[in-house]
Amino acid sequence: MTRLCVTDNAGSARRGSLKLRSASVDTPFFMPVATRGIVRYVPTELIADLGYQVLLSNTYHLMLRPGVEVIQQMGGLNAFTGFQGSSLTDSGGFQIMSLEASITTEGARFRNVYDGSWVTLTPEQAMVNQQRIGADIAMALDVCTQLPSSRDQLEANLRLTSEWAERSRLAHTDSTQALFGIIQGGIDLELRRQSTEAITALDFDGYAVGGLAVGESHESTLEAVRTVVDGLPADKPRYLMGVGDPYLLAHATALGIDMFDCVSPTRIARHGTALTDQGPVRVKGLPNRGLDEPLESGCGCRVCQRVSRGLLHHLSHVDTESAGALLSLHNLAFQFRLISRLRQAIVENTVEEVLADVDSVWSRPAI
Ligand code: GUN
Ligand code: ZN
Repeated sequence: MTRLCVTDNAGSARRGSLKLRSASVDTPFFMPVATRGIVRYVPTELIADLGYQVLLSNTYHLMLRPGVEVIQQMGGLNAFTGFQGSSLTDSGGFQIMSLEASITTEGARFRNVYDGSWVTLTPEQAMVNQQRIGADIAMALDVCTQLPSSRDQLEANLRLTSEWAERSRLAHTDSTQALFGIIQGGIDLELRRQSTEAITALDFDGYAVGGLAVGESHESTLEAVRTVVDGLPADKPRYLMGVGDPYLLAHATALGIDMFDCVSPTRIARHGTALTDQGPVRVKGLPNRGLDEPLESGCGCRVCQRVSRGLLHHLSHVDTESAGALLSLHNLAFQFRLISRLRQAIVENTVEEVLADVDSVWSRPAI
């Protein structure tokens, strides 16, 4: 059902297409995050207009509200979000970490963020929920570890991640929906190798590198990615979860990653930061000259076509939501431009040139 077709290689980087249930999508790709069914501040039709083909939503949030039954009754995730492309749901593994759930072998127990009641999520329930929500790609339930962490904690979470991966695989019965396994192990390279071996033995439709960009250095992130990719089959898609930082996105693409997602382009936009080819720009601090010019003249997005720096600067002081909406759109356009440039560079074998440009601006985190 799911099939990756690699059309070009440049070193370890690959360009191709991934065939999903109802469409083929170009790789490598970045997924905007519609946690609760929409990318915050961005009308969904504009996501497709920007060129994005896959949207990510979160099982944890959607199962609490409006509930998987509601989404199923509406005809599934696409009918619910109105997005006309492909979709992926994350399993809830990341929320197990960020919401400090209590974990047993059976599953995780969380506080419902909306009403404080207790909610249980097992790997089996995560599969039932994701099948009912009906995204094109579902994720196994995993246990992500906040870094820094002790080796004991990493090992315990790794063991559970392997067991839950197997239970996820067994409980997943919809052959039209792709299921990806998630590799954990923090920045411990030996644990990464172990996890890669355990998860690939279960023969998923694709493999995700989880548990990164959670407090470690960029170099540690990339070393862990390199170690995992070394042990992954070439004919399956590879997904680096939660990574959207331009530096990491470019370097991980060079290492052979095919898919990314992150809230950061829209999150930093809501906090007043624009992503540009010159690096991050705080709109509040724009200089007085050039206020009649677009944010980035070479961008060409809807915002850069119509909105001046002067208006953005003004809104950042008097109407931060409107500024956030405009910057969200521009930042998603920036992110799409970067991934498009990487795709083209793989075809033309010029990835090193793009990396040199990215390194000159983005070697430090954007926020
Ligand atoms: N999103 C970012 N990192 C992770 C991870 O490790 N696991 C899951 N399930 N989602 C993520
Ligand atoms: Zn723009």
